Amino acid sequence: MAALAYFRRMNSRYKSFCSIEQLADKIGETVTLNGWVYDKTEKGKLIFIKLRDGSGTVQGVLFKPNVAEDVFAAASSLTQESSVSITGTVRAEQRAPGGVELDVTEVRVWQVARDYPITPKEHGVEFLMEHRHLWLRSARQHAIMRVRAQVIKAIRDFFDGNGFKLMDSPIFTPNACEGTSTLFETEYFDLGKAYLTQSGQLYAEASAMALGKVYTFGPTFRAEKSKTRRHLTEFWMVEPEMAYFDLNDDMDLAEDLVVYIVEQCLNNCQRELATLGRDISKLEKVKRPFYRLSYTEAVEWLNTNNVKLNRKQPDGSEIQIDFPWGEDFGAPQEEAIMTQFDRPCIIHRYPSEVKAFYMKRDPDNSKVVLAMDMLAPEGAGEIIGGSQREDDHDLLLERLRHEGLPEEAFQWYLDLRKFGSVPHSGFGLGVERTVKWITGAEHIREVIPFPRMIYRIVP
Ligand code: 4AD
Ligand code: MG
Repeated sequence: MAALAYFRRMNSRYKSFCSIEQLADKIGETVTLNGWVYDKTEKGKLIFIKLRDGSGTVQGVLFKPNVAEDVFAAASSLTQESSVSITGTVRAEQRAPGGVELDVTEVRVWQVARDYPITPKEHGVEFLMEHRHLWLRSARQHAIMRVRAQVIKAIRDFFDGNGFKLMDSPIFTPNACEGTSTLFETEYFDLGKAYLTQSGQLYAEASAMALGKVYTFGPTFRAEKSKTRRHLTEFWMVEPEMAYFDLNDDMDLAEDLVVYIVEQCLNNCQRELATLGRDISKLEKVKRPFYRLSYTEAVEWLNTNNVKLNRKQPDGSEIQIDFPWGEDFGAPQEEAIMTQFDRPCIIHRYPSEVKAFYMKRDPDNSKVVLAMDMLAPEGAGEIIGGSQREDDHDLLLERLRHEGLPEEAFQWYLDLRKFGSVPHSGFGLGVERTVKWITGAEHIREVIPFPRMIYRIVP
């Protein structure tokens, strides 16, 4: 009985649905498309319906003498964003964007939309953000979301195809991972406080000791006070973690991943990138090897090229100084450094004071840690942060204490350094930073379906 029910389901209705992206292969056939009206124009005896269905857009044409009266009337009633199924014959049309048009014979109206708030006129970004649930239907947003889906698919394919196992890290955590200043806190029953994870890394390290090469992929949270074009409070991060990898292995892997992601977008998102007006030639340059600079070399470059740092004086005035070794780079320094490069650049070996407690000191220079950040070109900024991890129990404990972190909460993490500790490394790639770079979007709020920022939680 169960088997019979299963086979009945095999004839599922949805399998007969046709999508706009399939039309090029269906010239001469009669198909039904289910979608929404992007635009409609009437010219005497002709009606042109621009239909979108999520996979693309196509123009349907009705010529009054050729269709039933009620079909023509139904088409005439359509407004922007009305939901409709249209049936017709696919015709090759050189001048049309997808190379095809539809000669419409049937129109089934699901709902006539009244007063759709987003019209072809210019809207302010605040208005569009308030209507994000509808804005996603616009051509540009739609193209960005399709690139985003491709970026995520490329990430998964890359790791799944290279011997990595997906190991999810928890989102509720008892401790901080990336410093305590950006933690979201919540009550957790009788157990006191819990925090939304800033990074799945610490758990990924435990997973790597169990499975060798792993990746964790999920939403991460930062109570970032910064109102920049690059910061979200909730963003998606993929974090590979590998036993027996040193910092060089880690950087090599990061380069391979980024090359693969860009290549897949170039291969599979040509239409979307064209809609976005993206300069493809810039992306085509993204090939290995990337540039690499140590932090110290980067500071020297800033100072020989006269990139000054603005420093507030106690009296409130500002002076310009040379970049002091030991401070973290901000966006202005990163952007200045990247002006010389047309491919991403990895900056490695940062001062230990500006980096997280878990990073391993460089055996050749204890002032720096085996950290690396990948900066993308065209002002996109940091897309990857990673490091080789401290694998020595006592040194790690010392770092925890130095940072004033609660030792009890990290006992399990210290355990990893007691039972078969090995050199290991990993990194985190921010999905939205990457999509922003690849699509050329102005602001990070446009590259995630429903952005969370300090000043926005609706819709
Ligand atoms: O450099 P981060 O803070 O590194 C970590 O969290 C490590 N634990 C990762 C690891 O080694 N497993 O963050 C990694 C990346 C950044 O390079 C950036 O792409 C992104 O996450 N990111 C953000 N994206 C959007 N909004 C924010 N507020 C972000 N903070 C970091
Ligand atoms: Mg970072």
